[in-house]
Amino acid sequence: MIMGGKSLKGSVSISGAKNAAVAAIPAALLTEGVCRIDNVPNIKDVDVLLDIMRHLGAKIKKIGTDALEINCEKIHSFTVPYEMTKKMRASYYFIGALLGRFNHAEVSPPGGCCFGSRPIDMHIKGFEALGAKVNIDRGIVEAHATKLESAQVFLDVVSVGATINIMLAATRVNGTTIIENAAKEPHVVDVANFLNAMGANVRGAGTDTIKIKGVEKMAGGSYTLIPDQIEAGTFMIAAAATRGDVLIKNVIPKHLESITAKLVEVNATVEEFDDSIRVSRNGPLHKANVKTMPYPGFPTDLQPQTVALLSMAKGTSIVTESVWDNRYQYVDELRRLGAQISVDGKIAVVEGVEKLSGANVKATDLRAGAGLVIAALMADGVTQMHDIYHIDRGYEGLELKLNSLGAQIVRRNSGKSLINEKGIAYV
Ligand code: EPZ
Repeated sequence: MIMGGKSLKGSVSISGAKNAAVAAIPAALLTEGVCRIDNVPNIKDVDVLLDIMRHLGAKIKKIGTDALEINCEKIHSFTVPYEMTKKMRASYYFIGALLGRFNHAEVSPPGGCCFGSRPIDMHIKGFEALGAKVNIDRGIVEAHATKLESAQVFLDVVSVGATINIMLAATRVNGTTIIENAAKEPHVVDVANFLNAMGANVRGAGTDTIKIKGVEKMAGGSYTLIPDQIEAGTFMIAAAATRGDVLIKNVIPKHLESITAKLVEVNATVEEFDDSIRVSRNGPLHKANVKTMPYPGFPTDLQPQTVALLSMAKGTSIVTESVWDNRYQYVDELRRLGAQISVDGKIAVVEGVEKLSGANVKATDLRAGAGLVIAALMADGVTQMHDIYHIDRGYEGLELKLNSLGAQIVRRNSGKSLINEKGIAYV
């Protein structure tokens, strides 16, 4: 239940990057030694991955509030069953990691957020280039190689998942594998840095071309994940949306440049510091056109939050979703709050309204859920939000953090306070 109309004020700290964590955890399978990963977000997707890791034979030790020690010395299964993968998309990283260490993987197709067809043909192209045979039978992806060989892979589509998955599969392959037209997202770089900290030799992550010189063994090591770019962007947008003034701590401002630029365009004030960013707004919200693009473009994972923001901007904004086919399913929910948005294929036309009013809505996926929370914070009255498990998949204590900034959000039947299970108050 979200009581709208409150300005967010204060400071909030951003957790570790979900999309780096969901790759780094399976990537630990590539090492015989112990991997310590710090700044792991406390989210449901991580819980699901850890269950899968245990199922494969990994020993997991949780240390403190946000660190994990993973020991993959004794892996006894190469099969990840559907019951375990259906909840999350990133389970595809088990294919690359198991193939890369054991030359064999059997993984059921991924679940997770559903917004149109989510093919993995680029991942398969990469595995096959490395010499694996890939069969998909009754929904199970089986990848097998007698011996993997280094290769040059050109990705026809810039894909975060394929870039990381091929990197994982190639880490221990003799020779140098080259990925061309690679994705450049911060979490791609983070996973490469993680692999290097464990003993791999990956160069060029963050550019179009990644070179992976295979190493024989990976000894383990320790690594701290970067802060979550999308969580940070969500709070930046929420601050601007609510006429707030929020210092967002533990961020890498460079990763947020496209969001900063867009928020300035809609009339917010953004101040950058070394590892924090302050967003405030006093004047009216201006319209803006937004086109989602692979990094360093505007992230698709902030598109719903941005549409929510623009729904109360003066004038008509045009939003173009150029990464996913069908990422506007939540627009019907925004309309329930009074937003005036029409969608034609990849384009949403957002006619700014003067007021939104609380209503019953449901989260249709993770980022859609965050967008609806922002709309509910802007709306007059109370919004009841359903299917919030989507939000729990990828945001650590979203309502707790928002409440610490002055929002009034109550999770029904949870009795949660401002202190989360780690004992951290989000200040
Ligand atoms: C990652 O998904 C993220 N997930 C997504 O975040 C994010 O929206 C997406 O990258 C784009 O930034 C994780 O990192 C776990 P892609 P991924 O492969 O890797 C097409 C969130 O909310 N494509 O970069 O699955 C695809 O259809 C989630 O945190 C192919 O055609 O995305 C899409 O149009 C949701 N063939 C485009 O590429 C392929 O083999 C980008 O997809 C792979 C992808």
